[in-house]
Amino acid sequence: MLSGIRSTGNLHLGNYYGALRKFVAAQDHFDCNFFIADLHSLTTNPDPDALHANVKSILAEYLAAGLDPEKSTIFIQSDVPEISEMYLLLNMHVGIGELMRTVSFKDKARKMLGIAPSDSESDEEIEKQIVGNDTGKRVNAGLLTYPTLMAVDILIQKATKVPVGKDQLQHLELTRRFARRFNSFYGVDFFPEPTDFSFGGAPVKVPGLDGSGKMGKSEGNCIYLIDEPKALRKKVMRAVTDEGPTAPNSPMSQPVENLFSLLELTSTPEVATQFRNAYNDCSIRYGDLKKQLAEDILAVTTPIRERVADIMADEEYLRKVVARGAEKARERAARTLADMRQIMGIRKF
Ligand code: TRP
Repeated sequence: MLSGIRSTGNLHLGNYYGALRKFVAAQDHFDCNFFIADLHSLTTNPDPDALHANVKSILAEYLAAGLDPEKSTIFIQSDVPEISEMYLLLNMHVGIGELMRTVSFKDKARKMLGIAPSDSESDEEIEKQIVGNDTGKRVNAGLLTYPTLMAVDILIQKATKVPVGKDQLQHLELTRRFARRFNSFYGVDFFPEPTDFSFGGAPVKVPGLDGSGKMGKSEGNCIYLIDEPKALRKKVMRAVTDEGPTAPNSPMSQPVENLFSLLELTSTPEVATQFRNAYNDCSIRYGDLKKQLAEDILAVTTPIRERVADIMADEEYLRKVVARGAEKARERAARTLADMRQIMGIRKF
């Protein structure tokens, strides 16, 4: 099993319940590999001053939340140079057309160029917008070949189980296609086809605080694992609600339903039931609900936040973790790359 984590931004409660907690549990059952995709972050915003700090904080957050270097291989993408070499080789089997048509490319490229998307356009029109743009801005070739790099991450480890979010399914589909194509072009049975791996059970819904859909990285909507208690309480107290129920057993508005969903994730069943009952008999006070919710969220995040601080301060430990992870990841990667070079006809004199 392998999953990559982009090194942008801090982890929030949605990341925790949606992915991280499942990764932590999976460590006891699979050969797990987790890595920070720092090279991928260069496709949109190369920033030498921020890059390392981002990698460090995301690594510390993952370790603090329970990824365990004793159980899993945890590494930094750029510590495995074999990935970069295989990226070059695999690109020789990837078509620019299929990359141009990738949804994430079209979205990100237009966003970077400041071109508003509209659904009426054909692929050709979008391509013209991106290639022929006169915005003075540039979309780098790395963004176009993002799916190649992601396929390499997976194929170089010969991973078969890849847990990803919905937005990454197309990339995984491309990975399968590239694997099949390589195998059939060279007449080999070399790369296994990875599948989207879900951990079983219903998908966890983690709504945000602004009354809309799921928790994302927008202001006022999102609770970060490293939020300080004071700031976290303030955010929760400001969460969107409604006027309150006026008749017994009224249906709930979306914003209030969202708060209950969060309470059910973080609190005990008894507490959640108590507030549901109070809602149903109209005695609920949203202020009380929010106070309770804030404390229950803090009970989840506080130990993580404290560990993040300890880990961030322990450079020696971080160095050891990534060195060991890189060693394990490189061992497998080097083997795959050596075989791939052979298959492609790159031979030594
Ligand atoms: N593209 C993934 C994301 O944005 C991150 C990623 C990079 C990844 N390489 C991967 C995920 C390999 C799974 C496997 O979330």
